[in-house]
Amino acid sequence: MDVGWKTLGRPPRILVTGATGFIGSFLVEAMLREGCQVYCLSRSGSRDRTTNESRVIEAIRTVNPRANVSRISVLEGDVTQPLAGLDRSTINGLHKMIDEIWHCAADTSFNKNQRKRILSTNYDGTINMIDLAEEIECPSFCFISTAYVCNAHPALATEDPVTRQIYHNAYEYSKRLAESRLIKRAANAGFVGTIFRLAVTAGHSKSGLTTQFLSYYNYAKHILGLRRRLIRKLKHDVLADRLADEGVRFIAGKRDMPLSLPLSPEGCMVLPIRFFCEPESTVNITPVDVVVKTLIRCAYSPRDRLKIVHVTNGNPPKCGPLYQKTLELLGFNGFEIASIRNRQNDPPFEDMKLEISLAGIENSMFSATLPYLPYTINEPKFSRVNLESMIGHENLPDFNVNTEYLRRILNYAVCNKFGKNHKES
Ligand SMILES: NC(=O)c1ccc[n+]([C@@H]2O[C@H](COP(=O)([O-])OP(=O)(O)OC[C@H]3O[C@@H](n4cnc5c(N)ncnc54)[C@H](OP(=O)(O)O)[C@@H]3O)[C@@H](O)[C@H]2O)c1
Repeated sequence: MDVGWKTLGRPPRILVTGATGFIGSFLVEAMLREGCQVYCLSRSGSRDRTTNESRVIEAIRTVNPRANVSRISVLEGDVTQPLAGLDRSTINGLHKMIDEIWHCAADTSFNKNQRKRILSTNYDGTINMIDLAEEIECPSFCFISTAYVCNAHPALATEDPVTRQIYHNAYEYSKRLAESRLIKRAANAGFVGTIFRLAVTAGHSKSGLTTQFLSYYNYAKHILGLRRRLIRKLKHDVLADRLADEGVRFIAGKRDMPLSLPLSPEGCMVLPIRFFCEPESTVNITPVDVVVKTLIRCAYSPRDRLKIVHVTNGNPPKCGPLYQKTLELLGFNGFEIASIRNRQNDPPFEDMKLEISLAGIENSMFSATLPYLPYTINEPKFSRVNLESMIGHENLPDFNVNTEYLRRILNYAVCNKFGKNHKES
């Protein structure tokens, strides 16, 4: 059985989970532009149905205010419930009506205390969606996973099932379990499974637009918070002299940077500390529009059996230059990007309080980066053999994460207060 939009000969009818989320909203917007009829399964929580529907529409309109939302139908459901919590009449209505399911909904938190919730959403949620696919006889199931289910060793991560024993967090673990279950079920079920493994997805390449401010953004947010607190301390704190003696100072006025961000107060924080990462390791960042364009290209491609596909950047930046540019854009100077291997084994602070010493500040910064540290050390190269065979060499997502792009996404984040009005995990 061949699936893929090319084989349909009419506009596809797609069921999507996670349409209110970052990647899901961009994906649905792109599907609408392709003429798809999109059924968005979205949970309502305590909200009434109208609010649920308007939440989906608002998410799509944030991506594109002119999106043709008349081709969206919102289904109230929750992936943690059997058959995603859909009632019998809705399920009957979907029977043999859906060409493809795109399961994007997930709990993307790295919070250690939310393990149960993360597993329930990501693992049980995927099983429930697979059950639903079978129940409605949907021939194609696309699962959005993470490239970080792959091992750091060997250095080349292939588009194959992983049997990894060590995980950095419950999120990675839940995604790997969900992949395994999908692989097993697809072997006997009546649908074709496609697993898309994404790496770090960031703001739009042209506008910087994002609705999610995790990973790279969290890091930037912490750095800006540090800047703000240091400026305050230098002005008002009785211990300011000690910081000044250690070389910490704020140079007010225009920074000598053609690409400066709207930072307040304007100026540059001189901070002679080390920022730890593995400078030669890569961070596989791709703008959300490039990711979604690639996913849509894949959707057209005919498939007759389970495929795992790495939707990753063939041109990922190295950590050293990435951190360097990011810190400069965020108004820092005088720091050193240092290899994590050179760090003494000081215990990281639990509470991330700002100590009045360079060592203390350095340690606080390190503590803030800990959840994301595994992703800045020994990132493997992601093989894209399957991706290339589906979309062709000329369409591979090879994006240059240059200073201009970083400025654009940081500018968007700063102007939007790192999503104060958006949800953050
Ligand atoms: N962002 C990245 O950098 C990245 C990288 C690799 C892979 N991914 C994968 O890409 C997918 C989308 O991620 P994202 O960044 O777009 O996440 P996101 O912005 O946090 O969105 C998560 C979506 O899942 C929905 N959801 C959560 N729990 C649900 C439930 N119980 N029932 C129904 N819907 C539920 C949320 O709905 P509500 O609005 O109701 O909360 C939201 O629409 C995920 O599978 C993630 O693992 C993301």
